[in-house]
Amino acid sequence: MLILGIDTSCDDTSASVTEDGANIISNVISGQTLIHEKYGGIVPELASRRHIEKIWPVVSEAIDAAGAGYRDLSGIAVCNGPGLIGSLLIGCSFAKALCYSTGKPLVAVNHLEGHIYSSFLEEPRPDFPFIALIVSGGHTCLYRVDGFGQYKELGRTRDDAAGEAYDKVSKLLGLGYPGGPAIDKLAQNGDPKAIDFPRAYLPESLDFSFSGLKTAVLNFLKSGIGPELISNISASFQAAVIDVLIRKTEWAIKKERIKRITLSGGVAANSELRRRMKKMAEEREAELFIPSVGLCTDNAAMIAAAGYHHLKAGNTAGFDLNPVAYLPL
Ligand code: KG4
Ligand code: ZN
Repeated sequence: MLILGIDTSCDDTSASVTEDGANIISNVISGQTLIHEKYGGIVPELASRRHIEKIWPVVSEAIDAAGAGYRDLSGIAVCNGPGLIGSLLIGCSFAKALCYSTGKPLVAVNHLEGHIYSSFLEEPRPDFPFIALIVSGGHTCLYRVDGFGQYKELGRTRDDAAGEAYDKVSKLLGLGYPGGPAIDKLAQNGDPKAIDFPRAYLPESLDFSFSGLKTAVLNFLKSGIGPELISNISASFQAAVIDVLIRKTEWAIKKERIKRITLSGGVAANSELRRRMKKMAEEREAELFIPSVGLCTDNAAMIAAAGYHHLKAGNTAGFDLNPVAYLPL
């Protein structure tokens, strides 16, 4: 079954053709970093306008690269939320028009569900049940996943997402947008123990909180430091984020008695988080599944993968499908 997936939830215009929710035939991503970097973050209005320009060429490229035609598709899956409403609107409108003109079924996919299914796009694939940690620019949450469509939220951030904290701290340090890759790189030459930034462990809860950490970095910077310390600040900030992510995942696998973890979302591209999560999983004798770096950040292959399972279950959407900025899983 070939599914065309479309994702325009944030600042990447992406389209992908995948087979049976598992094999990527094509995956095209048009990013907007050059447009937003001078503002130090995503400007929603500019993101929407760029999606309008890019959606048709990106979808055409994904279809051509797959060597397929629209007639070969079993369905068209689109992310309808959560995300930036103006951005989501472009993908949803385009997918609806495509379904209307081709007669193919329309499938709506939650962006978070997409991130979970990014772990199914490569070998080895996880069995159920598993604990899913999603860490992105908009979300930081833990789920227990018992099967396709069976999700129980165990915890979520109460304020900033981990990626948002990376981006805000990067801005404070003058490192630009997106902050994650810049801090990841700098931290490799820094001392993670140089500054003892706070870790919000929130006892008895699997929720997260990163806004205090961001403020602690701001206060540290106000205290007047030399530029030579930026790598140490990066490494110490990153250690504080990762310590919490690892500890909460450990609690989750213990609490749910499930020794299987998936790690996904843009922050899962982080080299130190990947290393530390692997170490923890080995120590706990847990299986760990982390997608390749390119499948951690936003992509439409993950939307097509989740869409395949919805289509198989008969969960199709009507032409009254609307995007939703806040859409819990
Ligand atoms: O999943 P994603 O592409 O979009 C959302 O759904 O939000 O995640 C984007 C986030 C950004 O905050 C970016 O700074 C972060 O992922 N990110 C990273 C790395 N690469 C991307 N954070 C830490 N280390 C990285 N290497
Ligand atoms: Zn995402």
